[in-house]
Amino acid sequence: MSKHQQVLLGIGGGIAAYKTPDLVRRLIEQDCEVISVLTNAGSKFVTSHTLAAVSGNRVRDNLWDEEAEQAMGHIELARWADLLLIAPATADLMAKMAQGKASDLLTTLHLACQSPVMVAPAMNQAMWHHPATQRNLTQLREDGVHVVGPEYGSQACGDIGPGRMSEPADIANAVANVLAVTNRLSGVNVLITAGPTREAIDPVRYISNSSSGRQGFALARAARDAGASVTLVSGPVGLETPTGVDRIDVVSSAQMKNAVMSHVSDCDIFFSVAAVSDYRPTVARSTKIKRQTENPEGRFHLELEETDDILKTVASLDRKPFVVGFAAETNNVLEYGREKRKSKGIDAIVINDVSDASIGFDSEENAVTIVHASGEQTLPKQNKLEIARQILSSVASLRNTNTEETAEAD
Ligand code: CTP
Repeated sequence: MSKHQQVLLGIGGGIAAYKTPDLVRRLIEQDCEVISVLTNAGSKFVTSHTLAAVSGNRVRDNLWDEEAEQAMGHIELARWADLLLIAPATADLMAKMAQGKASDLLTTLHLACQSPVMVAPAMNQAMWHHPATQRNLTQLREDGVHVVGPEYGSQACGDIGPGRMSEPADIANAVANVLAVTNRLSGVNVLITAGPTREAIDPVRYISNSSSGRQGFALARAARDAGASVTLVSGPVGLETPTGVDRIDVVSSAQMKNAVMSHVSDCDIFFSVAAVSDYRPTVARSTKIKRQTENPEGRFHLELEETDDILKTVASLDRKPFVVGFAAETNNVLEYGREKRKSKGIDAIVINDVSDASIGFDSEENAVTIVHASGEQTLPKQNKLEIARQILSSVASLRNTNTEETAEAD
């Protein structure tokens, strides 16, 4: 992480707030400058004197503090932050953030802050399990908020379960990881394909697959967050376009190929996440196929032809981007994936096992192995946005190494 990143630390009203002076120290050890923002409830658990002493900065606790506002107004404070960290994030704070409330200084800063936001939830296990909290958590993740913890264990109230705030050292590491990718791809053009394709049989029938597009869309969002200009070529999916991403909708693999080929010359990194149909009907009928007339013996034959391999086509260009493929396998997962990287001539491949329904095509989570020329990296099961962030981080490093090696060879 580069020196002196600026972290705004919002402190909610939970018992875990007593750990925040230690958290401030850990962040300073990571070369961060910290300004603490205490909520009214937070001030019942930790004092502004302690936080000011450990951070070396005045603590902010009131939207209406004229003197503090004159020194640095709250919008300026939101702009100052390279990252807004909220720890502990109580159930109430998470609910307010999910609803976009601006009812006090911290929630106002949350809305005004354009830098990454991270929460470290802490609450009683029943409150954590409550559907309303889980709904808010999903919404925050959906909004791109990073979530660290909570941990499982014994709680101040005597319960045992999930809800303990993560340890300060773990939170500080998570902050360092996020800051390490922020702006890592600024000025970089990223082209992504996502979702399934549909190959028409007749006007109402097609060949397709159950790809949801989630992993490709998560990658688009993570690339945007890392500062890239992102073009997303998407097959038919029911997902919203991440703000700031250019989306091109296509249906068939031929349309997907055309869209990719007309954007690839400007692109620095190509992620081929789409589950492109390998075959299409030789002829797409212009009128609906009728059961009785075409099927006298109870059999129907459909002739298929191979579609173009978009990934391979991009990888064989003279001036090609850094090319990353995806391999969804059901058996011999790693072996097939490694072989696919070589046969397609690509820089890296992200392999996942779609025989496991919990990380399969239409699920929220994923677990993958990234294979490249100089090694392999396994990312354990987690939500697809987190997987996307880690894939991007690895690809950014691999691409830098590649670029340096090419420059040396020149
Ligand atoms: N791919 C592509 N164009 C195709 C088929 C696949 O660009 N016509 C890309 C996918 O986006 C993915 C990679 O190739 O990045 C691997 O796709 P996959 O379906 O796993 O591999 P196939 O080459 O189709 O091999 P197989 O189906 O035999 O496993």
